[in-house]
Amino acid sequence: MKFNLAIAGAVLPSLALGFPQMMGGTREEMLDMLKERAELEKREPDLVSGLLNTVGGLVKTVVSDVDGILGSVAGGLLNPNDKRPEPGYTFQAPGAGDSRGPCPGLNLLANYGYLPRNGYVNFGQILDATARGFNMGTDLATVLGVFSVLANGDLATESFYLGAGPGNVGGLNRHSTAEADISPNREDYYNGCGDNHHLSSYRFKQNVALAKAGSGKFDMQVMAQQYALNADFSKKNNPFLYAFPFPQIVSVAAFSFYPSFFSNGTFGAGGVPNYESVSSIIGAQLDKTTGEFKYVPEKWPENWYRRSYPYGAVQALTDGFTQIYPSNIVVPGVAQLGTANFNVTNVLCDVFQGIRSITPLIIAGTEKDAATAISWALGKLDPVLGIGALGCPSSVLSPDKTDILFPSASQTGGPINSPSVQASKAGNNVYNKVYFTTKPTSPACS
Ligand code: HEM
Repeated sequence: MKFNLAIAGAVLPSLALGFPQMMGGTREEMLDMLKERAELEKREPDLVSGLLNTVGGLVKTVVSDVDGILGSVAGGLLNPNDKRPEPGYTFQAPGAGDSRGPCPGLNLLANYGYLPRNGYVNFGQILDATARGFNMGTDLATVLGVFSVLANGDLATESFYLGAGPGNVGGLNRHSTAEADISPNREDYYNGCGDNHHLSSYRFKQNVALAKAGSGKFDMQVMAQQYALNADFSKKNNPFLYAFPFPQIVSVAAFSFYPSFFSNGTFGAGGVPNYESVSSIIGAQLDKTTGEFKYVPEKWPENWYRRSYPYGAVQALTDGFTQIYPSNIVVPGVAQLGTANFNVTNVLCDVFQGIRSITPLIIAGTEKDAATAISWALGKLDPVLGIGALGCPSSVLSPDKTDILFPSASQTGGPINSPSVQASKAGNNVYNKVYFTTKPTSPACS
């Protein structure tokens, strides 16, 4: 089955009607698409009521989906210097005390010793390891690293934990700060009953089926379809879904990270985001007898080459907001979304300027603590986003703009209004298990 426009229309929400320009079409075209959806629903109810419901329970379908997408080979010029891991960096599965969480890229880097194997990392190590291992641009790593230290870590040592912090406080697992709902292959915090960090077998089965129905690879189009289905699911089933701009940016960008960072070779220059690379890097191991994906430690496949030039913040947000996000708009998004002022530079400048409004809420400390945190963050971001680099105006940080990064702080969701969860679900990743074989339409607490 090829994934055509009608099917794409079938999985797009009516919300998109409000943003036809983001869909690359007019309002009339969107209405046509929705009409087509209604007709398709009559003709093929299974397909529309849940593109993947039909696949979920069928072991042989999953196995054949995987068989059908094996074997694509990287083309283009591969530079031997880009082969990973480099000599001296060896794979070692994390031990019981090692911290691992929602980010497969960082988990993998720690599994090879590019980051400390115990998963307690600092800002400098993040910049260095993400560039060496995956060729992530310094600006992108800086933005991600700054938020993680601010929201989830320790300012004095510029450090954070990859999974849960001590006593399950902080760390990247902390919800709605950098970690967000509508992730590619993790469940929402509420529906996962606090488990927002293990690979979801259900979601990856869906992703594989979309790849099989599409190009056979995890390219931008397939990842946009994965985003559309996941966003639709969250809108219907997660009352705590909260569109908080910074984590929303991270989660939207994460969909484009699949082709851009996980391809064998450089995506767009002959590198392929094939099943072999993606499943190994995100730690998804198919059990052919059950048709489920076991979450195993993240590992590079044999003969893997990182992308040959950096993928930075502007490119990541451009891909995220032009190729992924339009497939299912989640309002309110970023301030300028849907207006003529929307562009990637403005989004990054919002992040830069909004630090002032977000920081006190996140660190919940004294005014002096907040001021220290603000100057630290702006000092790190200025060289990559400020006047010299992107042209963000650093002089107009206005205390009035308290809603830039944290609009409607009192509404459901967000870091200060998260649902209560089971403490047992909040710890570091535990590997070699299967998580979420079906869609958690209500909190999966048992
Ligand atoms: C620079 C430091 C980084 C930080 C602080 C960071 C942090 C995070 C966080 C908090 C999440 C969870 C987002 C969500 O809930 O959707 C995440 C997810 C993700 N990250 Fe990272 N990350 C970093 C670097 C990287 C790198 C270098 C890669 C790829 C090589 C990467 C790939 C991903 C992917 C693919 C996901 C989505 C996982 C999924 O749900 O399938 N990240 N990251």
